[in-house]
Amino acid sequence: MNQQLKDLLARGNQLNSPNYAPADIVFERGEGVWLTDSEGNRYLDFLAGIAVCSLGHAHPRLTETLQQQAGRLLHVSNMFYTAEQIELMQRLVDQSFGDRVFLCNSGTEANEAAFKLVRRYQSRVAGRESKTKILSMKSSFHGRTLASITATGQPKYHDGFAPLAPGFDYVPFNDVDALEQAFDDNIAALVVEPVQGEGGVRPATEEFLTAARDLCDRHDAFLMFDEVQTGVGRVGELFAYQKFGVTPDVMTLAKGLGGGVPLGATVATEELWKGWKRGSHASTFGGNPLACSAGAVVLDTIEDEQLLDNVRARSRQLRAGLDELADEFDLISDVRGAGLLVGAECGEKASEVVRVARDQGLLLNTAGGDTLRFVPPLIIDEDEINEGLRRLRMALQQV
Ligand SMILES: Cc1ncc(COP(=O)(O)O)c(C=O)c1O
Repeated sequence: MNQQLKDLLARGNQLNSPNYAPADIVFERGEGVWLTDSEGNRYLDFLAGIAVCSLGHAHPRLTETLQQQAGRLLHVSNMFYTAEQIELMQRLVDQSFGDRVFLCNSGTEANEAAFKLVRRYQSRVAGRESKTKILSMKSSFHGRTLASITATGQPKYHDGFAPLAPGFDYVPFNDVDALEQAFDDNIAALVVEPVQGEGGVRPATEEFLTAARDLCDRHDAFLMFDEVQTGVGRVGELFAYQKFGVTPDVMTLAKGLGGGVPLGATVATEELWKGWKRGSHASTFGGNPLACSAGAVVLDTIEDEQLLDNVRARSRQLRAGLDELADEFDLISDVRGAGLLVGAECGEKASEVVRVARDQGLLLNTAGGDTLRFVPPLIIDEDEINEGLRRLRMALQQV
């Protein structure tokens, strides 16, 4: 490591808020599924900025759109429309169950909006004042605002932040009996990730999601899917609810939607939007034309480049390769996931595998502490998957 890089990292470590612990790498540029650091080392990116860079890095179409948009108009506030905003909302509504969209800048904000939407509907539209409880899953992850960490069913995210938001409760994921027992008439909504991402890449069962839909219907509660990680092509359908065949009343998106530009969305049915009136909620930056132009290009490119087909094919290839590695290395005890959201359980060695893989020029991270998570860009090709598997094999040999 040269002195200039050492100094830069030292300054970063002095200035950065202490909740992060970045690796000793400074990235300078990217192209497709490759990233290049300040010393010219190249890395195969199976992390994609944690499932964000859906079109990879520096995708020509996204780059050109952003350059043109930046030169034309960046922001006007929610007091005016831009065509870019309307075009994005149109695409989201045309391609999903939703009728209207609230635009924001992140996953946690999209969830926050959804929580406020269901609560306000129950109290102000349905007149059910006591129906305030939001039921979520153990080992879920919904973001870092106070309401989102409260919904997050993992105590480690709550540590030191009491008092948490009132009116949340948890049930074990994929446990239909427990869900039935937990349901009562005070529940405003049930929130679930169709595939738990941060919790360890664990897909919901169709049986569980179907039971959730049914219970919500029977108890006048709303079904909310947090598709921040699973949405926008990640699981081989545009949205995971389409893959599972269970339609929610509200879904939240972020991560891959902007392809790297901060962008979140809360998509819901016309009925549910009756819960909000003018002034019920807002975001200064939400719906700005820069982010919206990115979102529209991401959705158009998924369609034009037939990326859903690619996700399915590359998913089969990646999982077959990981299954072979699981046969070869006892370290891997399970391979699971959906589309290009794939996990390989590795026990306590998972973090070490991530570190060694990085030294081999392969970027991954862990989910749930014990699982390697593979979330490469949706544009990844066959050779790149093979190359990633080859580098992972070398890392596993070393560990
Ligand atoms: C399912 C899910 N919901 C919400 C979030 C929070 O999104 P953000 O970090 O954009 O606020 C994440 C982030 O990992 C997520 O995976």
